Amino acid sequence: MGAMHTTDDASPPPVTISDRLDGRRALVTGAGRGTGAAVAARLREAGAIVLGTARTAPPVLPDRHDFVVADLTSPDGVARVAEQAAERLGGLDILVNTLGGSRSPSGGFAALTDEHWAHELDLNLLAAVRLDRALVPGMVGAGRGAVVHVASIQRRQPLHAATLGYAAAKAALTTYSKGLANEVGPYGVRVNVVSPGFIRSSGADGLVERLSTGQGITREEALGQVMDSLGGIPLGRPSEPAEVAELVAFLVGDRSAAITGAEHTIDGGTVPTVG
Ligand SMILES: NC(=O)c1ccc[n+]([C@@H]2O[C@H](COP(=O)([O-])OP(=O)(O)OC[C@H]3O[C@@H](n4cnc5c(N)ncnc54)[C@H](OP(=O)(O)O)[C@@H]3O)[C@@H](O)[C@H]2O)c1
Repeated sequence: MGAMHTTDDASPPPVTISDRLDGRRALVTGAGRGTGAAVAARLREAGAIVLGTARTAPPVLPDRHDFVVADLTSPDGVARVAEQAAERLGGLDILVNTLGGSRSPSGGFAALTDEHWAHELDLNLLAAVRLDRALVPGMVGAGRGAVVHVASIQRRQPLHAATLGYAAAKAALTTYSKGLANEVGPYGVRVNVVSPGFIRSSGADGLVERLSTGQGITREEALGQVMDSLGGIPLGRPSEPAEVAELVAFLVGDRSAAITGAEHTIDGGTVPTVG
């Protein structure tokens, strides 16, 4: 992607806003596979120094990519990652919380126990809240930083069959992000939310596989079933992890310097309403 040029009527020299992230220090959660791995790769490609984290490290790590293994559903795991970010990177310019998911059973609201709710909230809300609390003050002190939280269109379009707790946690994450953006904006720190629809990630592949074997249908049919459960996707396909990563790279870079406190949907048109 090239640089962007802006001019005004008085025709000063064109301003060039780079899409490079050379030397910027980035922490990416959920970076072991799927969307988080694509985000880590994209930021690294733009020149950032990336520290990834998940419970399992990828088998091969490229240059300028470091990894810390931790479970972010516990305060101890978050503390470990924050400590390693400070030690290995010496501060942070970019924080991308890609971590999230659901492991609740199907059966609707009555099937969800306190334990299911606690897990959905720990994974989809509190991991980001705790990491921000540890790391955003450093960005505020430095007078610059960019934070992205990955939520979901389910915060607006909740599916009740198996992911109600997840949807509610993502809604809380989105509202929390807006308040954080308002608080830290005056100190040069931007906070944005990326809300994907269906992404063809490793997590989604697993779901398609389970539906396909469970019901004795083909993977194509299983994929169609997931898309139907969302009410269809006007573009006719899920998003690719690399496409979500592209949006994140834009939001943490200088081309989006005036954008904060906003939710950015990437869903192939799935949400059928405005706003
Ligand atoms: N896929 C979709 O269709 C979709 C739709 C809307 C929103 N989203 C959101 O997009 C984000 C990425 O989703 P994805 O489908 O790309 O994810 P994914 O393929 O399921 O990957 C999840 C990543 O998070 C890590 N992780 C899981 N539990 C963890 C824990 N307790 N502590 C630390 N790391 C943990 C996983 O590694 P380990 O298991 O090794 O820890 C993995 O690296 C999530 O926030 C998700 O909610 C996804």
